[in-house]
Amino acid sequence: MSLMDRVKAKAKKDIKTIVFPEGDEIRTVQAAAILKKEGLAEPVLIGKTESICTVAKETGTDLSGIQMVDPLTSEKAKEYADALYEIRKNKGVTLEDAQKLIQDPMYYGIMMVKQNDADGLVSGAIHTTGDMLRPALQIIKTKPGVKIVSSSFLMECPNKNLGDDGLLVYSDCVVVPCPTAEELAQIAICAADTAHNLCGIEVPKVAFLSFSTKGSAKHPLVDKVTQAVELAHQLAPELLLDGEMQMDAALIPEIGESKAKGSPVAGHANVLIFPDLQAGNITYKTTQRIGGAQAFAVLQGLAKPCNDLSRGCSVEDIVNTAASTAVQAQG
Ligand code: ACO
Repeated sequence: MSLMDRVKAKAKKDIKTIVFPEGDEIRTVQAAAILKKEGLAEPVLIGKTESICTVAKETGTDLSGIQMVDPLTSEKAKEYADALYEIRKNKGVTLEDAQKLIQDPMYYGIMMVKQNDADGLVSGAIHTTGDMLRPALQIIKTKPGVKIVSSSFLMECPNKNLGDDGLLVYSDCVVVPCPTAEELAQIAICAADTAHNLCGIEVPKVAFLSFSTKGSAKHPLVDKVTQAVELAHQLAPELLLDGEMQMDAALIPEIGESKAKGSPVAGHANVLIFPDLQAGNITYKTTQRIGGAQAFAVLQGLAKPCNDLSRGCSVEDIVNTAASTAVQAQG
């Protein structure tokens, strides 16, 4: 069964409400109808009802039973604006600012999630990563015990000898440009959680990557990674993790055996932690474009799940992202 088939099967078992701030965007309208019909999620489309219905009519999409909310006429707008003001007043947001912000579908959607009227949010067919991520970070904030929001790329590789039957989790490739050792440790723990709870990887094996394996090179950049390994051990002693190690030592059994003998993960890692965003982002694109892997991203560490789409996304990408968000919301 493919990763997405497993995710969808899980999403159907406990249906979650997923809100779409880009409610009148064509692909989003079509995806909402599929999610509803297949029982993958209860979609909520935010936007002007008239424009959502026009898109549905033009595309022949059946939106029966799908909730639509217009922030400009919603009864909940006042409650959300008051709550938003309380959350952000110490950052200089006035009640008037909050009342204005809540008219923006992105802020309205984030407040729906914050106020438990939805379980998760998906956007990005029109907006940039930052447009959604910034308000999500400011309002929904991190899970208890987690200090930093990051991402995992789920890479389905054609070579089934790699990772967990070809599935590798890469982190972080989207959010944190230059993590400290402590942040890197937290990113690794969140990525292991994503691997287990979203991807169904029974035993996450976490490798902290570097250009050095077990002291083969000396450099302050390597020291940051070894420090992160120590901290991650302290924070999550039950996790199988190790480093610092090179990519080949992490993935290839014979090389792991020769370069990092006795390591609990070397040669068999399925979760790869990159020392910074440049390394992570470059590697996921290399794996995708040169290695022929399917790449799929989720955010991790938020108190409630919000996920970003690429602006070139297909209807299927939106359905998959919403199903993944629903599974993350199941906890
Ligand atoms: N985790 C938790 N909280 C965070 C994080 C984080 N990773 N980053 C910022 N915050 C909080 C801040 O503490 C701040 O909170 P406060 O306002 O309550 O004090 C709030 O979020 C806003 O922080 P800023 O630093 O002002 O936010 P910024 O404008 O820098 O945006 C962002 C944050 C969007 C995540 C930024 O770090 C960023 O642009 N990251 C890279 C995104 C990117 O371009 N990725 C690559 C492309 S995507 C791809 O290839 C698929």
